Amino acid sequence: MLALVISPESATGLRLADVAEPQPASNEALVSVHATSLNRGELRLLAIRPKGWIPGQDIAGIVERRAADGSGPTVGARVVALVDEAGWTERIAVPTDRLAALPDDVSFVSAATLPVAGTTALRTLRHGGDLAGQQVLITGASGAVGRFQIQLARHQGGFVTAVAAARHAEDLRGLGARQVVEAIDLAEGPFSLITESVGGQSLACAIERVAPGGTIVMFGSSSGELTPVGFRQFVPDHEGARLQTFAYYTSGPGIGEDIASLLALVAAGRLETRVALTVPWTDIAQALDALRQRSFSGKAVLTITG
Ligand SMILES: NC(=O)c1ccc[n+]([C@@H]2O[C@H](COP(=O)([O-])OP(=O)(O)OC[C@H]3O[C@@H](n4cnc5c(N)ncnc54)[C@H](OP(=O)(O)O)[C@@H]3O)[C@@H](O)[C@H]2O)c1
Repeated sequence: MLALVISPESATGLRLADVAEPQPASNEALVSVHATSLNRGELRLLAIRPKGWIPGQDIAGIVERRAADGSGPTVGARVVALVDEAGWTERIAVPTDRLAALPDDVSFVSAATLPVAGTTALRTLRHGGDLAGQQVLITGASGAVGRFQIQLARHQGGFVTAVAAARHAEDLRGLGARQVVEAIDLAEGPFSLITESVGGQSLACAIERVAPGGTIVMFGSSSGELTPVGFRQFVPDHEGARLQTFAYYTSGPGIGEDIASLLALVAAGRLETRVALTVPWTDIAQALDALRQRSFSGKAVLTITG
């Protein structure tokens, strides 16, 4: 079968190669992949993983062989899953607790946007507790995760301030942001929950805006910049605030259930999945370039064509 593998010799750093068929464990279904999407974190993984490694975390496809232990969906079921690697492939073995059934009226392409970005949005917001009536600040708000965070925080009754370039303001207000500011310095606060994925000066400004006892969830560093952090930034005015790190891969069990709850919102028309770009996986270079150039808001999706 074919997979996109790391190949330092090729111009894109990837090539389609023949790889061994997966050998599912008893709790794993064999899934034939129809669509997958790119995540910003994969840009870093492409640079640090060895030759022959297969990237890819978001998959949507069809169960080709049910898990031997009888768990999970049956043959022919349309499914979505979050895997830790090797999703950019024709077939993959997936633990059934990482799988969710895909409703008939949600496409593979739309569903492929959800696993990493949607689960991250849902789980980072949980660190804020009950968001009803709370002020929530979202940095990197025009990104894949940020767009989901805006919508989910608003559903939960939070008042969202989004940090994003002015060209995204109308779009993000349409998703539920009460205010869109071009730079975090313009966000007034205080905020009981701040989701921070830009790093550097953005994280420093987030500390200045967190309410006493509030939470900053640090889950990314899109700028690649570090932030000096000290006690004096919290005192006075931010006493009891906490800096919470988040990584989806250590965020606990129930991934399949969380993807299912996101899919239910999509099917009900309550969660928009913005597919900014769809290309066959043979055009991976185009999708990677667009992600590197930050030329879209939402997700780039690859379709797996035989
Ligand atoms: N910890 C985890 O488990 C986890 C899970 C998912 C994602 N992440 C991380 O969270 C971040 C957001 O993910 P995503 O999928 O939403 O990414 P994305 O779609 O690429 O969005 C990135 C967002 O950050 C903004 N941004 C501001 N400064 C930037 C810079 N210097 N470089 C790149 N973007 C910048 C972008 O704004 P513009 O509109 O100006 O481009 C955009 O809104 C990434 O760093 C990703 O690696 C972490």
